[in-house]
Amino acid sequence: MSSHGAPIPMTAHKSGPLQGQADVPGDKSISHRSLILGALAVGETKVTGLLEGQDVLDTAKAMQAFGAEIEKIDDTWHVHGVGVGGFAEPSQVIDCGNSGTGVRLIMGAMATSPIAATFTGDASLNKRPMARVTDPLALFGARSYGRSGGRLPMTIVGASDPLSVRYTTPVPSAQVKSAVLLAGLNAPGETVVIEREATRDHSERMLAGFGATIATEDTAEGHVITLQGQPELRPQTIIVPRDPSSAAFPVCAALITEGSDVLVPNIGLNPTRAGLFYTLQDMGADLTFENMREEGGEPVADLRAKFSPDMQGIEVPAERAASMIDEYPILSVVAAFAAGKTHMPGVKELRVKESDRIDAMATGLRAAGLQVDEGEDWWTVHGLGFGNVPGGVTAKSHLDHRIAMSFLILGFASNASVSVDDGGPIATSFPIFESLMSGLGARIDRT
Ligand code: S3P
Repeated sequence: MSSHGAPIPMTAHKSGPLQGQADVPGDKSISHRSLILGALAVGETKVTGLLEGQDVLDTAKAMQAFGAEIEKIDDTWHVHGVGVGGFAEPSQVIDCGNSGTGVRLIMGAMATSPIAATFTGDASLNKRPMARVTDPLALFGARSYGRSGGRLPMTIVGASDPLSVRYTTPVPSAQVKSAVLLAGLNAPGETVVIEREATRDHSERMLAGFGATIATEDTAEGHVITLQGQPELRPQTIIVPRDPSSAAFPVCAALITEGSDVLVPNIGLNPTRAGLFYTLQDMGADLTFENMREEGGEPVADLRAKFSPDMQGIEVPAERAASMIDEYPILSVVAAFAAGKTHMPGVKELRVKESDRIDAMATGLRAAGLQVDEGEDWWTVHGLGFGNVPGGVTAKSHLDHRIAMSFLILGFASNASVSVDDGGPIATSFPIFESLMSGLGARIDRT
């Protein structure tokens, strides 16, 4: 089942060459944060380039339910914020659909206001662990009442007299870090978050942009982030950069599809997000960064990916995992077309994404003729080399957009077509995926 409606089976056939320019949509992480921080600022934040995927639209609806006014005029989203501490109590259940980022960040943002809200999601989101967020929110004084195992649906009762918190995140998660920082906005004094491994830092950068006082320091304890509570956030004009996690799909498709040469312009190469591209280069991919520049304080480049039939399997450094955590499904597809083993350690978090991504990919890849070994926090794909991947499988997407897109791309270069039982979830993050890939020359249809 897709998150909103009947399943949409799709099939990808042997394709190529893929050629032209792939203009991928706005960054999902930055889009969520633009709406949430805009809602917490005093006055009107303007956002262009917002990802209009279902996940982000659900966050926009949630912000309206907490009292922000949001409207789209021409290409610009206008967010009229209510200020830190200004959230109203929603009169309806907040449905975050498929989005872990949406629900966890919003829970953080409301947890230090004297209001209650009930959250739910689709079948995928309602299986995902929320204690990783409600545990630190309890330290501020918020209470949570969810299903057993800390699952949605869940009611959060915000702290009316929040405490200040110092918290070390037990898992490498930007969602947990961000939930604590957003809660810290309405708490007195300093909120300190310590992470042992650096995760994507969009919340820190954007909070600073909105006028919060926030500092990051690398110490023996780890990456220490200190936020001063109760700032007045100033509205911003935000141009959302394009999403490197979406860019990964046309880039990887070009690398494995015969004769391809694809340009993917304007992709942010924030070091906390760009791990996949360095991994592909380590495998011998013909992937270059053209026109390197800086925009809004972040490195940006145009990516050029060409068919790379001679890639080699590698050991992906575990310390790179956080910077490419959403890209392992598509990396496992590239690994199938490389020669030799690609070993991916340190990736336990993949088991609690929109699906268990190791299990979902390993099951479908095995059915497509690959050997895949796995443990709780690692997996290995035994590459067969270009031209040798059988394919010919219908894979389950498990309500997970990245699983659906990864298997469809497998079909562009396998010997037999590859289907997914439901491509509907692709709309959560990459609503133009089918048209964009077809425009490059890929053969993909609804079956
Ligand atoms: C995100 C953080 C990551 C990532 C997700 C987006 C964010 O999740 O997988 O797609 O915007 O903060 P975790 O925090 O669970 O690692």
